[in-house]
Amino acid sequence: MEKRIFIKTFGCQMNEYDSNRIYDTVKKIGYLKTDNKENVDCYIINTCHIRDKAKEKVYHEVGRIREIYKSRNKPITIITGCVAQAENEEMLKREPYIDIVVGPQSYHKINSLIKNFEIGKKIEETEFDVVNKFNYLDRTENDNSNVSAYLTIQEGCDKFCNFCVVPFTRGPEYSRPFDKVMLEAEKLVKNGAKEIILLGQNVNAYSYKDQNKEYRLSNLINNLEKFSEIDRIRYTTSHPRDMTDDLIDCYSTSRKLMPFVHLPIQSGSNKMLKLMNRKHTVETYIKIYENLKKINPEIEFSSDFIISYPGENENDFVETLDFIKNYRFINSFSFIFSPRPGTKASKLKEIENEVSKERLIKIQEQLSLHQLTMNKSFINNSIDVLVENEIIGQNKLFGRNKYMNSVIFNGNKKYLGKTVKVEIEKVNRNTLFGITNEKREFLN
Ligand code: SAM
Ligand code: SF4
Ligand code: F3S
Repeated sequence: MEKRIFIKTFGCQMNEYDSNRIYDTVKKIGYLKTDNKENVDCYIINTCHIRDKAKEKVYHEVGRIREIYKSRNKPITIITGCVAQAENEEMLKREPYIDIVVGPQSYHKINSLIKNFEIGKKIEETEFDVVNKFNYLDRTENDNSNVSAYLTIQEGCDKFCNFCVVPFTRGPEYSRPFDKVMLEAEKLVKNGAKEIILLGQNVNAYSYKDQNKEYRLSNLINNLEKFSEIDRIRYTTSHPRDMTDDLIDCYSTSRKLMPFVHLPIQSGSNKMLKLMNRKHTVETYIKIYENLKKINPEIEFSSDFIISYPGENENDFVETLDFIKNYRFINSFSFIFSPRPGTKASKLKEIENEVSKERLIKIQEQLSLHQLTMNKSFINNSIDVLVENEIIGQNKLFGRNKYMNSVIFNGNKKYLGKTVKVEIEKVNRNTLFGITNEKREFLN
Protein backbone atom coordinates (compact mmCIF):
# COMPACT_ATOMS: atom_id res chain seq x y z
CA MET A 1 0.00 0.00 0.00
CA GLU A 2 1.15 3.51 -0.82
CA LYS A 3 2.56 5.47 2.12
CA ARG A 4 3.25 9.16 2.69
CA ILE A 5 6.52 10.82 3.62
CA PHE A 6 7.37 14.41 4.54
CA ILE A 7 10.87 15.87 4.87
CA LYS A 8 11.50 19.09 6.81
CA THR A 9 14.79 20.51 5.57
CA PHE A 10 17.14 22.82 7.47
CA GLY A 11 20.56 24.13 6.46
CA CYS A 12 22.36 24.59 3.19
CA GLN A 13 21.59 23.85 -0.47
CA MET A 14 23.22 20.44 -0.15
CA ASN A 15 20.62 19.45 2.40
CA GLU A 16 17.92 20.55 -0.06
CA TYR A 17 19.52 18.41 -2.75
CA ASP A 18 19.81 15.48 -0.32
CA SER A 19 16.14 15.75 0.71
CA ASN A 20 15.10 15.52 -2.92
CA ARG A 21 17.35 12.49 -3.44
CA ILE A 22 15.81 10.84 -0.35
CA TYR A 23 12.35 11.41 -1.88
CA ASP A 24 13.62 9.74 -5.08
CA THR A 25 14.99 6.83 -3.03
CA VAL A 26 11.97 6.05 -0.84
CA LYS A 27 9.68 6.04 -3.87
CA LYS A 28 11.19 2.60 -4.62
CA ILE A 29 9.58 1.21 -1.43
CA GLY A 30 6.22 2.91 -1.99
CA TYR A 31 6.65 6.12 0.02
CA LEU A 32 5.33 9.18 -1.81
CA LYS A 33 6.22 12.80 -1.09
CA THR A 34 3.52 14.92 0.51
CA ASP A 35 3.42 18.55 1.64
CA ASN A 36 0.83 17.73 4.28
CA LYS A 37 2.94 16.91 7.30
CA GLU A 38 -0.14 16.18 9.41
CA ASN A 39 -0.85 12.88 7.72
CA VAL A 40 2.31 10.88 7.10
CA ASP A 41 3.74 7.45 7.76
CA CYS A 42 7.31 8.68 7.85
CA TYR A 43 8.61 12.10 8.97
CA ILE A 44 12.22 13.02 8.27
CA ILE A 45 14.00 16.06 9.70
CA ASN A 46 17.06 16.81 7.60
CA THR A 47 19.26 18.79 9.95
CA CYS A 48 22.05 21.37 10.03
CA HIS A 49 24.74 21.63 12.72
CA ILE A 50 26.58 24.75 11.58
CA ARG A 51 25.47 26.92 14.54
CA ASP A 52 23.94 26.02 17.87
CA LYS A 53 20.51 27.46 17.06
CA ALA A 54 20.31 25.12 14.07
CA LYS A 55 20.56 22.12 16.39
CA GLU A 56 17.91 23.37 18.80
CA LYS A 57 15.48 23.82 15.90
CA VAL A 58 15.57 20.03 15.43
CA TYR A 59 14.33 19.25 18.92
CA HIS A 60 11.60 21.91 18.57
CA GLU A 61 10.50 20.27 15.34
CA VAL A 62 10.31 16.85 17.02
CA GLY A 63 8.12 18.48 19.71
CA ARG A 64 5.79 19.73 16.98
CA ILE A 65 5.49 16.25 15.43
CA ARG A 66 4.69 14.77 18.84
CA GLU A 67 1.94 17.38 19.27
CA ILE A 68 0.42 16.74 15.81
CA TYR A 69 0.34 12.98 16.33
CA LYS A 70 -0.43 12.89 20.05
CA SER A 71 -3.70 10.99 19.65
CA ARG A 72 -2.72 8.97 16.57
CA ASN A 73 -0.13 6.41 15.47
CA LYS A 74 3.18 8.20 15.35
CA PRO A 75 5.05 8.32 12.02
CA ILE A 76 8.47 6.68 11.78
CA THR A 77 10.57 9.64 12.90
CA ILE A 78 13.99 9.90 11.26
CA ILE A 79 16.75 12.44 11.78
CA THR A 80 19.14 12.86 8.84
CA GLY A 81 21.82 15.43 8.04
CA CYS A 82 24.66 16.99 9.98
CA VAL A 83 23.15 16.95 13.50
CA ALA A 84 22.43 13.25 13.00
CA GLN A 85 26.09 12.65 12.16
CA ALA A 86 27.46 14.79 14.98
CA GLU A 87 25.14 13.73 17.79
CA ASN A 88 24.28 10.18 16.61
CA GLU A 89 23.01 8.00 19.48
CA GLU A 90 22.89 11.03 21.83
CA MET A 91 19.79 12.11 19.90
CA LEU A 92 18.05 8.80 20.57
CA LYS A 93 18.78 9.22 24.29
CA ARG A 94 17.75 12.88 24.51
CA GLU A 95 14.54 12.47 22.51
CA PRO A 96 12.88 9.03 22.69
CA TYR A 97 10.32 10.09 20.07
CA ILE A 98 13.10 9.72 17.45
CA ASP A 99 13.28 6.24 15.88
CA ILE A 100 16.18 6.38 13.45
CA VAL A 101 19.29 8.57 13.07
CA VAL A 102 21.08 8.52 9.68
CA GLY A 103 24.22 10.49 8.79
CA PRO A 104 24.67 12.19 5.37
CA GLN A 105 26.95 9.48 3.97
CA SER A 106 24.52 6.62 4.71
CA TYR A 107 21.43 7.69 2.76
CA HIS A 108 21.68 4.60 0.55
CA LYS A 109 20.62 2.60 3.62
CA ILE A 110 17.40 4.55 4.29
CA ASN A 111 15.10 2.19 2.39
CA SER A 112 16.21 -0.92 4.26
CA LEU A 113 16.07 0.97 7.60
CA ILE A 114 12.47 2.02 6.91
CA LYS A 115 11.42 -1.39 5.57
CA ASN A 116 12.87 -3.28 8.54
CA PHE A 117 11.71 -0.79 11.16
CA GLU A 118 10.01 -2.23 14.26
CA ILE A 119 8.26 -0.08 16.85
CA GLY A 120 10.47 0.49 19.87
CA LYS A 121 13.68 -0.48 18.06
CA LYS A 122 16.10 2.46 17.86
CA ILE A 123 18.62 2.60 15.02
CA GLU A 124 21.70 4.73 14.45
CA GLU A 125 23.57 4.63 11.11
CA THR A 126 26.42 7.11 10.74
CA GLU A 127 29.15 5.39 8.75
CA PHE A 128 31.13 7.52 6.24
CA ASP A 129 30.27 5.39 3.21
CA VAL A 130 30.24 8.11 0.55
CA VAL A 131 31.33 5.93 -2.42
CA ASN A 132 28.53 3.41 -1.87
CA LYS A 133 26.07 6.23 -1.26
CA PHE A 134 26.73 7.85 -4.63
CA ASN A 135 26.90 4.48 -6.42
CA TYR A 136 23.42 3.79 -5.08
CA LEU A 137 22.10 7.26 -5.88
CA ASP A 138 23.50 7.00 -9.41
CA ARG A 139 21.15 4.05 -9.91
CA THR A 140 18.21 6.08 -8.60
CA GLU A 141 16.52 8.45 -11.06
CA ASN A 142 16.72 12.12 -10.08
CA ASP A 143 13.11 13.24 -10.50
CA ASN A 144 13.68 16.87 -9.62
CA SER A 145 11.94 19.03 -12.22
CA ASN A 146 12.90 22.50 -11.00
CA VAL A 147 13.84 25.12 -13.56
CA SER A 148 16.86 25.83 -11.37
CA ALA A 149 18.26 22.48 -10.23
CA TYR A 150 20.95 21.62 -7.71
CA LEU A 151 23.53 18.99 -8.57
CA THR A 152 26.00 17.81 -5.91
CA ILE A 153 29.44 17.18 -7.41
CA GLN A 154 31.58 17.16 -4.28
CA GLU A 155 31.06 16.52 -0.61
CA GLY A 156 33.04 16.89 2.58
CA CYS A 157 36.01 19.00 3.54
CA ASP A 158 39.69 18.49 4.37
CA LYS A 159 40.41 22.09 5.33
CA PHE A 160 39.48 22.02 9.01
CA CYS A 161 38.85 25.69 9.72
CA ASN A 162 39.00 25.82 13.52
CA PHE A 163 35.38 26.95 13.91
CA CYS A 164 33.65 24.53 11.54
CA VAL A 165 31.87 21.18 12.02
CA VAL A 166 31.59 20.29 8.34
CA PRO A 167 34.73 18.09 8.16
CA PHE A 168 33.25 16.09 11.06
CA THR A 169 29.68 15.88 9.76
CA ARG A 170 30.27 15.37 6.02
CA GLY A 171 33.64 13.61 6.25
CA PRO A 172 36.66 13.93 3.95
CA GLU A 173 36.52 15.58 0.53
CA TYR A 174 35.03 13.33 -2.14
CA SER A 175 34.42 14.20 -5.80
CA ARG A 176 31.85 12.30 -7.83
CA PRO A 177 32.95 10.72 -11.14
CA PHE A 178 32.80 13.22 -14.01
CA ASP A 179 30.62 10.99 -16.25
CA LYS A 180 28.12 10.37 -13.44
CA VAL A 181 27.74 14.10 -12.87
CA MET A 182 27.16 14.60 -16.59
CA LEU A 183 24.54 11.82 -16.72
CA GLU A 184 22.67 13.41 -13.84
CA ALA A 185 22.85 16.81 -15.56
CA GLU A 186 21.33 15.23 -18.70
CA LYS A 187 18.47 13.85 -16.62
CA LEU A 188 17.85 17.23 -14.97
CA VAL A 189 17.78 18.87 -18.39
CA LYS A 190 15.25 16.27 -19.59
CA ASN A 191 13.15 17.13 -16.52
CA GLY A 192 13.15 20.80 -17.58
CA ALA A 193 16.16 22.37 -15.84
CA LYS A 194 17.41 25.59 -17.44
CA GLU A 195 19.87 26.41 -14.71
CA ILE A 196 22.27 23.99 -13.02
CA ILE A 197 23.79 24.92 -9.67
CA LEU A 198 26.77 22.68 -8.92
CA LEU A 199 27.11 22.02 -5.20
CA GLY A 200 29.87 21.11 -2.80
CA GLN A 201 31.04 22.14 0.65
CA ASN A 202 34.22 23.07 -1.24
CA VAL A 203 32.85 22.94 -4.73
CA ASN A 204 35.97 24.32 -6.41
CA ALA A 205 38.11 21.61 -4.78
CA TYR A 206 36.34 19.22 -7.21
CA SER A 207 38.95 16.84 -8.60
CA TYR A 208 38.19 13.54 -10.27
CA LYS A 209 41.00 11.49 -11.77
CA ASP A 210 40.32 8.97 -14.52
CA GLN A 211 43.13 7.31 -16.54
CA ASN A 212 45.68 10.02 -15.77
CA LYS A 213 43.28 12.81 -16.68
CA GLU A 214 42.14 15.13 -13.93
CA TYR A 215 38.69 16.66 -14.22
CA ARG A 216 38.18 19.94 -12.37
CA LEU A 217 35.20 22.21 -11.83
CA SER A 218 36.24 24.11 -14.97
CA ASN A 219 35.81 20.90 -17.04
CA LEU A 220 32.32 20.41 -15.67
CA ILE A 221 31.40 24.01 -16.50
CA ASN A 222 32.81 23.73 -20.04
CA ASN A 223 30.84 20.52 -20.63
CA LEU A 224 27.58 21.88 -19.24
CA GLU A 225 28.04 24.86 -21.54
CA LYS A 226 27.45 22.49 -24.51
CA PHE A 227 23.87 21.61 -23.46
CA SER A 228 21.69 23.85 -25.65
CA GLU A 229 18.85 23.61 -23.09
CA ILE A 230 20.94 25.03 -20.25
CA ASP A 231 20.87 28.82 -20.00
CA ARG A 232 22.70 29.36 -16.75
CA ILE A 233 25.46 27.67 -14.74
CA ARG A 234 26.38 28.46 -11.13
CA TYR A 235 28.38 26.78 -8.38
CA THR A 236 28.57 27.11 -4.62
CA THR A 237 30.31 27.22 -2.11
CA SER A 238 33.84 27.92 -3.17
CA HIS A 239 36.96 28.38 -1.07
CA PRO A 240 39.55 31.06 -1.95
CA ARG A 241 42.38 28.47 -1.84
CA ASP A 242 40.82 26.50 -4.73
CA MET A 243 40.04 29.47 -6.99
CA THR A 244 42.46 28.23 -9.66
CA ASP A 245 43.28 29.96 -12.98
CA ASP A 246 41.35 27.40 -15.07
CA LEU A 247 38.22 28.28 -13.08
CA ILE A 248 38.85 32.02 -13.31
CA ASP A 249 39.32 31.61 -17.09
CA CYS A 250 35.81 30.15 -17.36
CA TYR A 251 34.50 33.66 -16.71
CA SER A 252 35.91 34.73 -20.06
CA THR A 253 35.19 31.56 -22.03
CA SER A 254 31.74 30.57 -20.77
CA ARG A 255 28.64 32.41 -21.94
CA LYS A 256 26.46 30.63 -19.41
CA LEU A 257 28.46 30.91 -16.19
CA MET A 258 26.70 33.67 -14.24
CA PRO A 259 28.82 36.67 -13.20
CA PHE A 260 28.14 36.21 -9.50
CA VAL A 261 30.70 34.64 -7.16
CA HIS A 262 29.95 33.57 -3.61
CA LEU A 263 33.41 33.51 -2.05
CA PRO A 264 33.51 33.40 1.76
CA ILE A 265 36.39 35.26 3.41
CA GLN A 266 35.15 35.14 7.07
CA SER A 267 37.29 38.10 8.26
CA GLY A 268 39.12 41.13 6.88
CA SER A 269 41.96 40.65 9.37
CA ASN A 270 44.95 38.41 8.58
CA LYS A 271 45.44 37.80 12.28
CA MET A 272 41.90 36.39 12.52
CA LEU A 273 42.23 34.31 9.32
CA LYS A 274 45.34 32.70 10.82
CA LEU A 275 43.60 32.02 14.13
CA MET A 276 40.69 30.48 12.21
CA ASN A 277 43.08 28.29 10.17
CA ARG A 278 41.57 29.59 6.93
CA LYS A 279 44.71 28.91 4.86
CA HIS A 280 44.40 32.15 2.87
CA THR A 281 45.16 35.81 3.53
CA VAL A 282 43.21 38.99 2.85
CA GLU A 283 45.74 39.79 0.11
CA THR A 284 45.28 36.47 -1.73
CA TYR A 285 41.53 37.00 -1.54
CA ILE A 286 41.81 40.51 -3.00
CA LYS A 287 44.02 39.19 -5.81
CA ILE A 288 41.32 36.67 -6.81
CA TYR A 289 38.67 39.40 -6.55
CA GLU A 290 40.67 41.72 -8.79
CA ASN A 291 41.57 39.01 -11.32
CA LEU A 292 37.92 38.13 -11.71
CA LYS A 293 36.89 41.79 -12.03
CA LYS A 294 39.59 42.26 -14.67
CA ILE A 295 38.31 39.29 -16.68
CA ASN A 296 34.73 40.47 -16.43
CA PRO A 297 33.91 43.82 -14.75
CA GLU A 298 30.27 42.72 -14.51
CA ILE A 299 31.13 40.11 -11.86
CA GLU A 300 29.72 40.83 -8.41
CA PHE A 301 30.58 39.06 -5.16
CA SER A 302 28.97 37.84 -1.99
CA SER A 303 30.74 36.47 1.07
CA ASP A 304 30.40 34.97 4.55
CA PHE A 305 31.69 36.69 7.70
CA ILE A 306 32.17 35.32 11.20
CA ILE A 307 32.00 38.06 13.80
CA SER A 308 33.65 37.81 17.25
CA TYR A 309 35.74 34.75 16.62
CA PRO A 310 37.80 34.26 19.84
CA GLY A 311 40.70 36.72 19.88
CA GLU A 312 38.99 39.36 17.69
CA ASN A 313 39.79 42.79 19.17
CA GLU A 314 38.36 46.15 18.13
CA ASN A 315 41.18 46.68 15.65
CA ASP A 316 40.58 43.30 13.94
CA PHE A 317 36.89 44.07 13.77
CA VAL A 318 37.51 47.48 12.17
CA GLU A 319 39.72 45.78 9.57
CA THR A 320 36.73 43.58 8.60
CA LEU A 321 34.42 46.58 8.52
CA ASP A 322 36.87 48.54 6.32
CA PHE A 323 37.27 45.53 4.04
CA ILE A 324 33.49 45.41 3.56
CA LYS A 325 33.43 49.16 2.82
CA ASN A 326 36.12 48.75 0.13
CA TYR A 327 34.93 45.54 -1.52
CA ARG A 328 31.28 46.11 -2.04
CA PHE A 329 29.59 42.73 -1.66
CA ILE A 330 26.08 42.76 -3.04
CA ASN A 331 24.69 40.08 -0.77
CA SER A 332 26.37 38.32 2.14
CA PHE A 333 25.89 36.24 5.25
CA SER A 334 27.27 37.28 8.63
CA PHE A 335 27.08 35.32 11.86
CA ILE A 336 28.33 35.64 15.41
CA PHE A 337 30.81 32.84 16.13
CA SER A 338 29.03 29.82 17.59
CA PRO A 339 31.25 27.26 19.36
CA ARG A 340 30.72 23.82 17.87
CA PRO A 341 31.46 20.66 19.82
CA GLY A 342 34.56 18.80 18.65
CA THR A 343 36.12 21.78 16.85
CA LYS A 344 39.37 23.42 18.01
CA ALA A 345 37.65 26.77 18.56
CA SER A 346 35.06 25.27 20.90
CA LYS A 347 37.53 25.43 23.78
CA LEU A 348 38.49 29.08 23.24
CA LYS A 349 37.29 31.98 25.37
CA GLU A 350 34.23 33.57 23.82
CA ILE A 351 33.74 37.31 23.32
CA GLU A 352 31.04 38.98 25.43
CA ASN A 353 27.62 38.69 23.85
CA GLU A 354 26.88 42.43 24.03
CA VAL A 355 30.09 43.29 22.16
CA SER A 356 29.37 40.60 19.54
CA LYS A 357 25.84 41.83 18.95
CA GLU A 358 27.03 45.43 18.49
CA ARG A 359 29.68 44.28 16.00
CA LEU A 360 27.20 42.16 14.07
CA ILE A 361 24.78 45.09 13.77
CA LYS A 362 27.55 47.33 12.38
CA ILE A 363 28.63 44.69 9.85
CA GLN A 364 25.07 43.98 8.75
CA GLU A 365 24.26 47.70 8.38
CA GLN A 366 27.23 48.07 6.06
CA LEU A 367 26.37 44.95 4.06
CA SER A 368 22.72 46.05 3.76
CA LEU A 369 23.77 49.44 2.51
CA HIS A 370 25.63 47.91 -0.47
CA GLN A 371 22.86 45.42 -1.10
CA LEU A 372 20.21 48.13 -1.22
CA THR A 373 22.38 50.46 -3.34
CA MET A 374 22.91 47.64 -5.83
CA ASN A 375 19.21 46.77 -5.89
CA LYS A 376 18.23 50.43 -6.42
CA SER A 377 20.53 50.57 -9.44
CA PHE A 378 18.10 48.20 -11.21
CA ILE A 379 15.11 50.56 -10.90
CA ASN A 380 13.79 51.66 -14.33
CA ASN A 381 16.09 49.14 -16.00
CA SER A 382 15.07 46.13 -18.00
CA ILE A 383 16.84 42.99 -16.75
CA ASP A 384 16.98 39.32 -17.80
CA VAL A 385 15.09 37.04 -15.43
CA LEU A 386 14.95 33.24 -15.55
CA VAL A 387 11.39 32.43 -14.50
CA GLU A 388 11.34 29.66 -11.91
CA ASN A 389 7.77 29.42 -10.63
CA GLU A 390 4.36 30.93 -10.17
CA ILE A 391 3.39 32.58 -6.88
CA ILE A 392 0.17 30.74 -6.22
CA GLY A 393 -2.85 32.96 -5.58
CA GLN A 394 -1.07 36.18 -6.56
CA ASN A 395 -1.02 35.88 -10.32
CA LYS A 396 2.67 36.73 -10.18
CA LEU A 397 5.85 35.00 -11.22
CA PHE A 398 9.11 34.43 -9.41
CA GLY A 399 12.54 34.33 -10.99
CA ARG A 400 16.13 35.43 -10.56
CA ASN A 401 18.46 37.80 -12.35
CA LYS A 402 22.08 36.97 -13.10
CA TYR A 403 23.13 38.00 -9.57
CA MET A 404 20.63 35.62 -7.92
CA ASN A 405 18.38 38.48 -6.81
CA SER A 406 14.78 37.39 -6.32
CA VAL A 407 12.48 39.07 -8.82
CA ILE A 408 8.69 39.13 -8.48
CA PHE A 409 6.68 40.39 -11.42
CA ASN A 410 3.37 40.18 -13.21
CA GLY A 411 3.19 37.67 -16.00
CA ASN A 412 1.69 34.71 -17.64
CA LYS A 413 2.45 31.05 -16.85
CA LYS A 414 3.78 30.63 -20.38
CA TYR A 415 6.97 32.38 -19.21
CA LEU A 416 7.89 29.52 -16.86
CA GLY A 417 11.38 28.20 -17.67
CA LYS A 418 12.09 31.12 -20.03
CA THR A 419 14.44 34.04 -19.68
CA VAL A 420 12.39 37.22 -20.04
CA LYS A 421 12.96 40.95 -19.80
CA VAL A 422 11.52 42.48 -16.64
CA GLU A 423 11.27 46.22 -16.09
CA ILE A 424 12.13 46.88 -12.42
CA GLU A 425 9.81 49.38 -10.71
CA LYS A 426 10.67 49.10 -7.04
CA VAL A 427 13.04 47.20 -4.77
CA ASN A 428 13.73 46.37 -1.17
CA ARG A 429 16.86 44.80 0.32
CA ASN A 430 15.90 41.26 -0.69
CA THR A 431 13.64 41.52 -3.72
CA LEU A 432 13.16 43.37 -7.00
CA PHE A 433 9.59 44.00 -8.22
CA GLY A 434 8.65 44.68 -11.83
CA ILE A 435 6.58 44.02 -14.92
CA THR A 436 7.16 42.26 -18.22
CA ASN A 437 6.36 43.78 -21.52
CA GLU A 438 3.96 41.16 -22.92
CA LYS A 439 4.76 42.11 -26.50
CA ARG A 440 8.48 41.77 -26.05
CA GLU A 441 9.90 38.58 -27.47
CA PHE A 442 11.44 35.90 -25.30
CA LEU A 443 15.19 36.00 -25.28
CA ASN A 444 15.24 32.31 -26.06
N1 SAM B 1 33.17 25.89 2.72
C1 SAM B 1 32.76 27.22 2.80
C2 SAM B 1 33.99 28.10 3.01
O1 SAM B 1 34.97 27.65 3.55
O2 SAM B 1 33.94 29.26 2.70
C3 SAM B 1 31.77 27.46 3.92
C4 SAM B 1 30.72 26.48 4.17
S1 SAM B 1 29.93 26.65 5.75
C5 SAM B 1 28.77 25.41 5.51
C6 SAM B 1 28.94 28.11 5.58
C7 SAM B 1 29.30 29.26 6.49
O3 SAM B 1 28.89 29.01 7.82
C8 SAM B 1 30.77 29.58 6.65
O4 SAM B 1 31.26 30.29 5.57
C9 SAM B 1 30.83 30.37 7.93
O5 SAM B 1 30.71 31.75 7.70
C10 SAM B 1 29.59 29.87 8.70
N2 SAM B 1 30.02 29.12 9.89
C11 SAM B 1 30.63 27.93 9.92
N3 SAM B 1 30.89 27.56 11.19
C12 SAM B 1 30.47 28.56 11.99
C13 SAM B 1 30.50 28.77 13.39
N4 SAM B 1 31.03 27.89 14.22
N5 SAM B 1 29.96 29.92 13.87
C14 SAM B 1 29.42 30.82 13.02
N6 SAM B 1 29.37 30.68 11.69
C15 SAM B 1 29.89 29.55 11.17
FE1 SF4 C 1 34.04 24.52 7.00
FE2 SF4 C 1 34.39 25.64 4.63
FE3 SF4 C 1 36.35 25.65 6.43
FE4 SF4 C 1 35.64 23.39 5.26
S1 SF4 C 1 36.56 25.19 4.27
S2 SF4 C 1 36.09 23.66 7.40
S3 SF4 C 1 33.42 23.67 5.03
S4 SF4 C 1 34.35 26.69 6.58
FE1 F3S D 1 24.56 22.73 7.82
FE2 F3S D 1 25.71 20.46 7.21
FE3 F3S D 1 25.10 22.19 5.33
S1 F3S D 1 26.15 21.69 8.97
S2 F3S D 1 25.33 24.13 6.37
S3 F3S D 1 23.66 21.12 6.59
S4 F3S D 1 26.89 20.89 5.39
